[in-house]
Amino acid sequence: MSKILVTGGLGFIGSHTVVELQSEGYEVVIIDDLSNSSESVLDGITAITGKTPIFEKLDLKDKAGVEAFFKKHSDVEGVIHFAASKAVGESVKEPLLYYENNISTLVYILKELKKLPSAAFIFSSSCTVYGQADELPITENAPVKLAESPYGNTKQIGEEIIRDTCKVTPSIKAIALRYFNPVGAHESVEIGELPIGVPQNLVPFITQTAIGLREELSVFGDDYPTPDGTCIRDYIHVVDLAKAHVVALKRLLEGKNKENYETFNLGTGKGSSVLEVVQAFERVSGEKLKYKIVGRREGDIISAYADTNKANNELGWKTELSLDDAMRSAWSWEKKVRGK
Ligand code: WQD
Repeated sequence: MSKILVTGGLGFIGSHTVVELQSEGYEVVIIDDLSNSSESVLDGITAITGKTPIFEKLDLKDKAGVEAFFKKHSDVEGVIHFAASKAVGESVKEPLLYYENNISTLVYILKELKKLPSAAFIFSSSCTVYGQADELPITENAPVKLAESPYGNTKQIGEEIIRDTCKVTPSIKAIALRYFNPVGAHESVEIGELPIGVPQNLVPFITQTAIGLREELSVFGDDYPTPDGTCIRDYIHVVDLAKAHVVALKRLLEGKNKENYETFNLGTGKGSSVLEVVQAFERVSGEKLKYKIVGRREGDIISAYADTNKANNELGWKTELSLDDAMRSAWSWEKKVRGK
């Protein structure tokens, strides 16, 4: 079975995708620089699948290191590229860190793929490329808007680099997967979102508040033009998201792609408000969550949720897990991580 490189494979979405790849019989090699993950995630993956992926610690900014990797693993047939910095707020403060880490590394990998007889390339993109879409639900044809942050801009630029490369390199076939909001953890509670630093995202902040690590959740604004006044997002279970990566990879390896570069939105198609997420957490955990309404967060869009038709019809993939499933697994993971 094909050997697949997963960059950032010890990260949140990466580790869940490695599990699904191994479950489908792929040989997996992981590159991770451990800047936002831990080698112990390998144990979690092994506990689930019984197979330990090959792991190479490498900073993809090390061009010579990337070249050496592909010399050693010249039998790689596909790459799923997660490795990138992804904190929106940090990207505003440190734009050059984001352009260097997210763009130069992509170029180095694509230059190596050009040397292979053929390569399937899956790119971790984000619904953030749409900004505040004019029409909801959001289809893949929605205009890509001026990015709200350097992080979002690196995803837009990344997609353009891949598109331009595929145009003149028939041996590289690529798909950009535009994630909505990934949440939850594997049901085994062997892997999940590693809690490194103060969480910027909603769900880890909720579970850390419930476990007693955070005083209370700040809800960033309840004066938006939405039913309950809080922002709406499309929260997709990370296991559903991981499975979509394997389906997209297979599409390319089996030559079923219609274009050399394609994009797919990955979401549930359902929007949930911040307060609905809080209520889902309280429902599945039995915990009462402490929260307060505060001012809006700079850069937040009002509402985003996916039109899932293209992914459903073209990829033959759709989400199977619910927001309750995601909150239940996120809570189980939080309790495990804190030894509760
Ligand atoms: C969701 C909602 C907040 C925290 C970002 C990136 C996206 C992807 C996912 C990387 C918003 C509200 C949040 C809190 C709150 N990142 N919130 N209190 O901003 O939709 O998406 O993370 O791939 O690219 O843009 O996700 O979880 O930060 O926020 O009220 O403490 O929860 O205002 O409405 P977001 P989020």
